[in-house]
Amino acid sequence: MRTDTGQIVHLADYRPTDFILERVDLTFELDPTATRLEARLIFHRRDGADPKAPLVLDGDELTLAELRLDQNELPAAQFDVTPDSLVIRDLPEAAPFEVTVITIINPEANGQLMGLYRTNGVYCTQCEAEGFRRITYFPDRPDVLAPYTVTIIADKATNPVLLSNGNFLGGGNYDEGRHFAAWFDPFPKPSYLFALVAGDLGIVEDTFTTMSGREVALKIYVEHGKEPRAAYAMDALKRSMRWDEERFGREYDLDIFMIVAVSDFNMGAMENKGLNVFNDKYVLADPETATDQDYANIEAIIAHEYFHNWTGNRITCRDWFQLCLKEGLTVYRDHEFSADQRSRAVKRIAEVRHLKSEQFPEDAGPLAHPVRPTTYREINNFYTTTVYEKGSEVTRMIATILGRDRFKQGMDLYFERHDGDAATVEDFVACFAEVSGRDLTQFSRWYHQAGTPMVTASAEYDAASRSFVLTLEQNVPPTPGQSVKEPMHIPLSFALILDNGSIGEPSSITGGEVTDDVLHLTERHQTFTFSGIGARPVLSLNRGFSAPINLDFRQTPADLAHIARHDSDLFARWQALTDLALPNLLQAARDARDGKEITCDPAFLAALLEVAGDGNLEPAFRAQALALPSEADIARELGGNNDPDAIHAGRQAILAHLAREGAATFEALFASMRTEGAFTPDAASAGRRALRNSALSYLSYLDGGVARAADAFASADNMTDMTQALTVLAHRFPGEAATANALGAFLKRFDDNPLVLDKWFSIQATIPGVATLARVRALMEDPHFVATNPNRVRALIGTFAFANPTGFNRKDGEGYRFLARQILAIDPRNPQLAARILTSMRSWRSLEPTRAEHARTALGEISAAASLSTDVRDIVERMIQ
Ligand code: ARG
Ligand code: ZN
Repeated sequence: MRTDTGQIVHLADYRPTDFILERVDLTFELDPTATRLEARLIFHRRDGADPKAPLVLDGDELTLAELRLDQNELPAAQFDVTPDSLVIRDLPEAAPFEVTVITIINPEANGQLMGLYRTNGVYCTQCEAEGFRRITYFPDRPDVLAPYTVTIIADKATNPVLLSNGNFLGGGNYDEGRHFAAWFDPFPKPSYLFALVAGDLGIVEDTFTTMSGREVALKIYVEHGKEPRAAYAMDALKRSMRWDEERFGREYDLDIFMIVAVSDFNMGAMENKGLNVFNDKYVLADPETATDQDYANIEAIIAHEYFHNWTGNRITCRDWFQLCLKEGLTVYRDHEFSADQRSRAVKRIAEVRHLKSEQFPEDAGPLAHPVRPTTYREINNFYTTTVYEKGSEVTRMIATILGRDRFKQGMDLYFERHDGDAATVEDFVACFAEVSGRDLTQFSRWYHQAGTPMVTASAEYDAASRSFVLTLEQNVPPTPGQSVKEPMHIPLSFALILDNGSIGEPSSITGGEVTDDVLHLTERHQTFTFSGIGARPVLSLNRGFSAPINLDFRQTPADLAHIARHDSDLFARWQALTDLALPNLLQAARDARDGKEITCDPAFLAALLEVAGDGNLEPAFRAQALALPSEADIARELGGNNDPDAIHAGRQAILAHLAREGAATFEALFASMRTEGAFTPDAASAGRRALRNSALSYLSYLDGGVARAADAFASADNMTDMTQALTVLAHRFPGEAATANALGAFLKRFDDNPLVLDKWFSIQATIPGVATLARVRALMEDPHFVATNPNRVRALIGTFAFANPTGFNRKDGEGYRFLARQILAIDPRNPQLAARILTSMRSWRSLEPTRAEHARTALGEISAAASLSTDVRDIVERMIQ
């Protein structure tokens, strides 16, 4: 393990390199423990650079075997080398020169899964962000772009497949049972987009004809025997390619596009030029083994990585502070794609749920940082939900403020102006400012100021003047390193809903800029007056979640119910139902804590059950409405001194109320939402399954719940229904024989399928209550638990810490102690994985004092460890600061 070096990187220190890299030529001789790489790098000194400046190359745990300058061995006096860097002096002032670096690397020993490593006998690379420096000494930064030629030599029998970026040049037999393949990528790229894959893999092939009529070969590589499970990914790829042409005018540029699925991967997937490498969880699917959520994830992530070809690869980032330039934008693009492929409103609801449950807590806790940070200690820790999801929301707001057409013009200008560049956030924003003539300076605070803005709203109708007055106030809370905040430009989509449910058209609106249905809140305090309103309307505000804010708008239950019934924006209807639910859930948590009886507002129950039974609404939407705010959502709304047990008990009581009140509705839904015929993963069928399983879960609160869930499990003919039934059994009836039987049957049936086993682990890791920690410990001893596989570790330990509020946050602190031990055990092998799982404790300060003290102690135990990776050190110190 590379232990902490502690250097902090500052955006303000950015300088271009002294040397321009012209070309890269790599020759790999693959060997499981001693791969030899000859890297030939052609440089010249940048115009105006210091003529004496040395060439400084990055390394990470490297061993230099040989070093040549223009093919001559370099005298020792001319360079300094350590595992972390190579510095060469006395280089030509102007003429190009060639540096040849030979390194020997051990892929088998690479447990970090950064650089070149082995997974199930397959050679594979992960270079973003700084993995290439674990392969060879290199100017490993995203603003150094060059065309790459790559030759791979390997044993032919064990590595029939040899892949790298770009187009295939040729290959053939080599010596001693070896063969070779050569690839050339003509598009200059930074090292983080380099990839190499070699091994014995199955292949699924197809073609795509681009909008200009070029035929592109599409290939997905998977483990032998898993080819049929790549069909959906291939379909999603072709749809993504077409969509990017139609929506953004972006055409694919190489002759071939490849995807490789591997089973050991730290993240979701990686957009290496022409050769995407995927966590196999986001490629493999069939009805027997994948849930509807799995299908939706595959579609989204295949699209995301493909879209990076333009937003990330053709236009990359100048430095890692600009990460949101490619990630936030590409998430926005994949969200739009999924919205076009599925139900836009339901997709938006799912996005906002995810944003609120993941990004809002990050923004409200010790790890809060701006979408475009200005310092980092370990860049791997900045692949965050803030950079990705809030980054996407910021892009969405640009589209909202400019309108669809102007936004498209801005994107066109960005693609045209910056193709081939390593760009900045400022470059991006400038394109939108230019096409719209708008000053986006204030708007840019969304990139620079961390924290979720709080907007407080109050409204009043004056019958005499037929006017409706809306008073708004905004506050951005202090975050680490940023105590004072400036007002933001917040676009708030709105509608005035009249008594009869129609949308009112004011004769004028004063008090600030209004475009279409968007109010532009730009001041700290701002009052909008809507004139010509004949009767008191109900204001629906922040429709579609046009801005990622917390909104404090005390609307009456009657007004919320009115929005829930009538808004033409389906998202706003869901939001209103959520706002109706929340006070009930918050009160229930308080009552549970105080040992009081838990009650529930009948008007809320009625509104929700009305939606549940409304056949005019799509089932997926009704399922979203029935999925009440989560325990984490309730904790966030409570804001501090939280007792997860009370939150859980309160929420359970409300669910039980709802189940009793809606028994007939749930019975009817469970019967009528069955999907007939062969399984299809389309959104409409998935919605029916979601609604039916939601009904099943409510019915579990009534008599006969166990038997019904056990029946549903036994009769399930697809993975969605099977895991939902198993979840109901395990979470509601953990001690029942029926549950043990179902878990046993599931394991027996799927014990040769790692992705399904992950589900088996996760379902058990999320069983509420104190007893689950012992179960998690026991599961770690199960022969199916593989401590080196990131998916498995996340499925059990990660899921327990992130998604089991009562099990993890035990009052005796055992959950935190357990996690601390696990982090220290994982860290030496895979720091990225350890650091990521540790972020599950990011909201520890909002716990009640006993738990918070235990959490602090556990964090202290981690930070006191003798050796820690930079990754874990960075997270733990920011968390306890
Ligand atoms: N660029 C990849 C993606 O969007 C993420 C890779 C992050 N990898 C890492 N080691 N930090 O989707
Ligand atoms: Zn990405």
